[in-house]
Amino acid sequence: MEGVIDANTRALLTECPGFDWTVTEFIRVIDHRLPPRVFLKHCPELATQQAKTPSGIAVHLQLLGSDPHALAENARQACDLGATSIDLNFGCPAKTVNRHDGGASLLRDPSRVESTVTAVNRAVGDTCPVTAKIRLGFSHRRLALDCGRAAENGGAKHLVVHARTRDEGYRPPAHWEWIDRLRRHLDIPVIANGDIWRLEDYWRIRSLSGCRDVMLGRGALADPWLAYRIRHWQQTGEQLSPTPWSARANILNAYAALQRSILPERIVVSLLKQWLNHMRSLDSESAHRFMSLRRVTQLDAFLDGLKKERRQQRVAL
Ligand SMILES: Cc1cc2nc3c(=O)[nH]c(=O)nc-3n(C[C@H](O)[C@H](O)[C@H](O)COP(=O)(O)O)c2cc1C
Repeated sequence: MEGVIDANTRALLTECPGFDWTVTEFIRVIDHRLPPRVFLKHCPELATQQAKTPSGIAVHLQLLGSDPHALAENARQACDLGATSIDLNFGCPAKTVNRHDGGASLLRDPSRVESTVTAVNRAVGDTCPVTAKIRLGFSHRRLALDCGRAAENGGAKHLVVHARTRDEGYRPPAHWEWIDRLRRHLDIPVIANGDIWRLEDYWRIRSLSGCRDVMLGRGALADPWLAYRIRHWQQTGEQLSPTPWSARANILNAYAALQRSILPERIVVSLLKQWLNHMRSLDSESAHRFMSLRRVTQLDAFLDGLKKERRQQRVAL
């Protein structure tokens, strides 16, 4: 996720079992071949870990653009640098991206989805699988299946479907039952995405979409153990209890330790606030901590605030 999940976040989220693979933030391709440093910045795992997180979970490199030739050239370049899988982003709803004809804007014309996937596929050959991520459409859902078919015809090895149109942004609800309509008509694996925050959401998306596999976005930040809890439930049928504050504080501390070695402290503080902000939607202790730390700008003071015992509120009976 752009601006949110970088290599350090991927490393921490995959320490615990649960994820099968991860994806980089998108690399935006306009019309020329990007220098290697751009790929290495978005995916440092290429240089050090054969496109895997330190725990050995694959990192797929994501490209976003609208020029099939330029995307193909950059995909080739990424593979030469060690990428083991290329994901094409046809889902980004950002106005600046769409104005420049990238992300979800291609969903208005499925033939462009197909020619893009085809071009990238031809460029990288069999050694590097190409996958695609779509929404249900741009402003309506009428072309959803055509877009899915276009990705399949172009040679995508799997399709992630975020169950909203571009115009729906991130507004609930996600239309999980629409993913089922695509899944039933496609031969490639379809992976369901959108609004999976809790284990209960996984049960519901699984029954409505018919997909066994899901992609977690914001839910993985809101509860960094969500993938583990889903995997545990898949394997045992047992529902693990919600992630406690102590575990959340530990991951934020570990994140700070990794980020402070490469980024200025004020940026680390704002990244920590961003992550805690995601956590607070699900967890009342995270919400309290967020409110009490939101104006703190010093990193050590912020980390002390995560550690500090909060006085228990007295409840009058
Ligand atoms: C801040 C932000 C950045 C995102 N960046 C990307 C991205 O770079 N590539 C991508 O495929 N999806 C990106 N997404 C979309 C998510 O991957 C996901 O499809 C969407 O948030 C719905 O899933 P969720 O409800 O689990 O978050 C981004 C979403 C957000 C909120």
